[in-house]
Amino acid sequence: TNNAFVGFPSSTQPTFLKRRRILGGKWGNQDMAIISSQNQSPEPKRRRGAAEKAASPPRGGGVGGEGSPEMKPRNSGLLKGEATQDEQDKNQLEEGIRPKSLAEYIGQKDLKQVLEIGIAAAKSRGEPLDHLLLYGPPGLGKTTMAVILATEMGVSCKITTAPALERPRDIVGLLVNLQPGDVLFIDEIHRLSRMTEEILYPAMEDGRVDITIGKGSSARMRSLPLHPFTLVGATTKVGALTSPLRDRFGLIQRLRFYEAEELTQVVLRTASILQIAINEPGAAEIARRARGTPRIANRLLKRVRDYAQVKAPGEITNEVAAAALELFQVDFWGLDWTDRRLLTVMIENFNGGPVGLETLAAATGEDAQTIEEVYEPYLLQVGLLNRTHRGRIATPTAWKHLGYKPPEAQLSLFADK
Ligand code: ADE
Repeated sequence: TNNAFVGFPSSTQPTFLKRRRILGGKWGNQDMAIISSQNQSPEPKRRRGAAEKAASPPRGGGVGGEGSPEMKPRNSGLLKGEATQDEQDKNQLEEGIRPKSLAEYIGQKDLKQVLEIGIAAAKSRGEPLDHLLLYGPPGLGKTTMAVILATEMGVSCKITTAPALERPRDIVGLLVNLQPGDVLFIDEIHRLSRMTEEILYPAMEDGRVDITIGKGSSARMRSLPLHPFTLVGATTKVGALTSPLRDRFGLIQRLRFYEAEELTQVVLRTASILQIAINEPGAAEIARRARGTPRIANRLLKRVRDYAQVKAPGEITNEVAAAALELFQVDFWGLDWTDRRLLTVMIENFNGGPVGLETLAAATGEDAQTIEEVYEPYLLQVGLLNRTHRGRIATPTAWKHLGYKPPEAQLSLFADK
């Protein structure tokens, strides 16, 4: 008997076997399977629920009445790190602008060095790479890196996401179909179900999957050997991973926000691929407003291109980029309405802080976790917000950026440091 496919009705081919060649070969010769599931339920991000509607708008002054409901963002997701549905749908185009080798990949120098060594060593030993966990904010290139790794190793990359692996047979089927050395990329790996996770442990450690055949008293355990493979897990919340899972990764690497100069290079590279005429100051203007995130930079570039096409034909300069992005309500630092509101509430209601996360969440009507995971990382990065053991503090730069004069106490608080 063929037990390898226990659990699969023989008449239906599981989704993961329906390989499709995507991207018109732009990823190279990779044969990739994108595994999706109807059960996928993206986590709510940047929720704007009833709580926010109930929250009082910030008192006027300083921010040009941005708190009024009609001034709510018109940039609708332009500054979100996550890929929009539209971007996911336009795979073909999006893939065309992704780097395909480590040499083409701009930024993340430390990560690239670690991986270059890992690749060279694994290749010389004729082994697959160690299992790798990539973590960091969305949009920094975790998927791109996994695909590049597979290309550099000369193997295929199978891409899936934890919510698509709800049933044990989803992951079992994927694992038994991997070819020697293949890369299995699991996005949002902190969201794996317990059962799926437990199947992964022996797969990662000993290269086998344990499956149960039959039911009740006749149930038997059977081990299936797997080809050696590399699991690349990606997460925005490394702290949410269970420690047994985390411990099974040989390499745990963080992706950082990009420097402005690196993002400028990303914008120039994308512009040249899409044949958009732009000069370096124009690219730098877009880069500065892109929250250290290539996905956002590329998205802003496309909006600026549209604007230029209609309003200012010719090369995109910094003036054109700035005018376009002001129109889309992407400000000098790339802050959106919620960022500004968080800072404004801190300044107006709490005299700049310190204010506790929960208090700030209640005062703004934002979800505490969303504030912590989506908004704060960038505000911290650019020095508009500080975290202390007593709570969050709006920095003097934030006061000035939002048109307030920082109080002496606030300045001395920072001067003392
Ligand atoms: N496009 C998006 N991210 C990129 C990166 N890190 N390097 C080059 N091009 C990119």
